[in-house]
Amino acid sequence: MSDMRHDVQNTFEELFGRRADGVWSAPGRVNLIGEHTDYNQGFVLPFAINRRTLVALGARTDRVARVASEFADEVVEIDLADLAPDNLHGWAAYPLGVAWALGQFGADLAAVPGFDIYIDSTVPVGAGLSSSAAIESAVAVALNEVWRLDLAPRTLATVGQRAENVAVGAPTGIMDQSASLLGRRDSGVFLDCRSLEAEIIPLGLEAAGLEILVIDTGVSHTHATGGYAERRASCEAGASALGVESLRDVTVDDLDRARNVLDDETFRRVRHVVTENQRVLDTARTLREHGPTAIGELLDASHRSMRDDFEISVPELDLAVETAQTNGAIGARMTGGGFGGAAIALVPSELSSRLRVAIDGAFSEHGYSLPDTFTVTAADGAFRELGL
Ligand code: GLA
Repeated sequence: MSDMRHDVQNTFEELFGRRADGVWSAPGRVNLIGEHTDYNQGFVLPFAINRRTLVALGARTDRVARVASEFADEVVEIDLADLAPDNLHGWAAYPLGVAWALGQFGADLAAVPGFDIYIDSTVPVGAGLSSSAAIESAVAVALNEVWRLDLAPRTLATVGQRAENVAVGAPTGIMDQSASLLGRRDSGVFLDCRSLEAEIIPLGLEAAGLEILVIDTGVSHTHATGGYAERRASCEAGASALGVESLRDVTVDDLDRARNVLDDETFRRVRHVVTENQRVLDTARTLREHGPTAIGELLDASHRSMRDDFEISVPELDLAVETAQTNGAIGARMTGGGFGGAAIALVPSELSSRLRVAIDGAFSEHGYSLPDTFTVTAADGAFRELGL
């Protein structure tokens, strides 16, 4: 990471002809459990991972914003006066969307200075590890400091979500940005998405001799279109048919009544969210009382619920999960929004290389392209790496 911080600073200098004011970073995330519960005001338990997005930023003396990144050839330039969701397109909508959204949360966009930004990242794109939240959170902490806004990390998470929802156009919840901003080394972020109260829960993986393997299937997904928005709409329809503000207000005991009120598909969507909320609560409690070795069945049950009730898995994810489960993993599930992306497996460290071999074998047997499989550790959320 230390090399990359200087690389980002040097590239900034080559591109913009001066030193950056500083370098900030924010991590991607893995969701341990709690899928499609965030926008239902429920519970999630993600952790920030040791793959980060770095942002070098320098304030300007005029009112121009310029953004460049390792993943695009062009430098996008806009006057701060023109910052509006309709004017933002492509990858630049993430960093510039954050600048716009800060204006919605107290920044006076008519008074703040312009800026130059250069972005680089080790969070894989399209793997369901929240590369977009990592960009948003890194830019949010950088501008928060350079513009002297003094907004709390929890507010910056809402800023990132606003950028994603309005500037990018993806109707996502608050989980990814919260994990990226609030994450702690070796810990999960247990978040109540209604109150936005967060509790840091130690994961204790290393002490238990466990690791988390990410199996990135390479099947691509986008949440700006299609299935994600459809699932969200089903949840809202279910809540309204049940006469509650959100599915957070429905408990496992209410499901029998829900079955009589809802059509079969909506019922299954609702059952996923309601049981998943309970599984997040159970996982948080189990981690505190018995440690990570005891959460395997909860992870497995979460995957079954997403596969059968919420129907957001794909065959490659199911294969990754089943192969993990039958080759020594304590538990496994797809993670993130679904329709592609990655699965995670909680596995005893000494079995991890055997598991990788088994997964590659199963994928080639099925004629699927080989997944990218790697270990992640729980890392700190966004912070300044270098400078001011
Ligand atoms: C994506 C969204 C999150 C969340 C998950 C599903 O990652 O960005 O807000 O809804 O999907 O749990």
